Amino acid sequence: PSMEVATESPHGCENTSDTEEDRDSDTDFGPSKLGTKEYWEDAYQKELETFKDMGDVGEIWFGEESMSRVLRWMDRAEIPESAAILDIGTGNGAFLVELAKEGYRNLTGVDYSPASVELSRNVLQAEDLTDISVKEMDFLNCQGELKGFDVCIDKGTFDAISLNPDNAKESKKLYVQALKDALKDKGFFAITSCNWTKEQLLDRFSEGFEFVQELPTPSFQFGGKKGNSVTALIFKRVL
Ligand SMILES: C[S@@+](CC[C@H](N)C(=O)[O-])C[C@H]1O[C@@H](n2cnc3c(N)ncnc32)[C@H](O)[C@@H]1O
Repeated sequence: PSMEVATESPHGCENTSDTEEDRDSDTDFGPSKLGTKEYWEDAYQKELETFKDMGDVGEIWFGEESMSRVLRWMDRAEIPESAAILDIGTGNGAFLVELAKEGYRNLTGVDYSPASVELSRNVLQAEDLTDISVKEMDFLNCQGELKGFDVCIDKGTFDAISLNPDNAKESKKLYVQALKDALKDKGFFAITSCNWTKEQLLDRFSEGFEFVQELPTPSFQFGGKKGNSVTALIFKRVL
């Protein structure tokens, strides 16, 4: 299933909290099970079984086009094939496969769900992509292990992290810090989100980053109001 044109989805991509007290531009989303490791571990356990049974990689979060649009941007931006690329919260590793198919050869994926890591490794092996490293790691607690990347890609992971029921605010801060540490000076960050608007993301990734461009995504019309189901933005790390 694709979330590409969904205006409302079963995955938490809707505004769930109208009651939160400190509603500023960055607290529009209430906590959700999507913010928990248990949820993802359970989801990828199931997807791993399905992959082993039928070779199906499972859900392509936000649809195939969400990968193509980032790949097209990378092509236009002339990101060299030797660039060190990190996929944050790689899930089933499908983006790593697409990056490898485009010729990128210095690829790393991280995810805190062991089942996701096992699934990604299986998916990569099935494609004969044996030199891609997938690490089991909590991005919010990576102890300086992730650094020196030319490009960091996030598709749905910052969204999930923002829904952490324990401490969303702190998690978002830790995310921004980990991202800053992971990227080289002038390295790029490509984020695809369904929880946050362009303005909210610009606000969140302001210090230490420069906005580069917005990638066009499908828009919908609802009650005379126009909106986008997903937002895809490119930032540049500036030290
Ligand atoms: C919405 S899924 C997206 C997966 C993948 N990027 C995709 O596009 O299919 C969010 C992913 O983030 C991972 N994740 C969430 N919090 C994380 C954290 N703190 N560290 C590492 N991975 C995390 C989850 O395990 C899950 O694989």
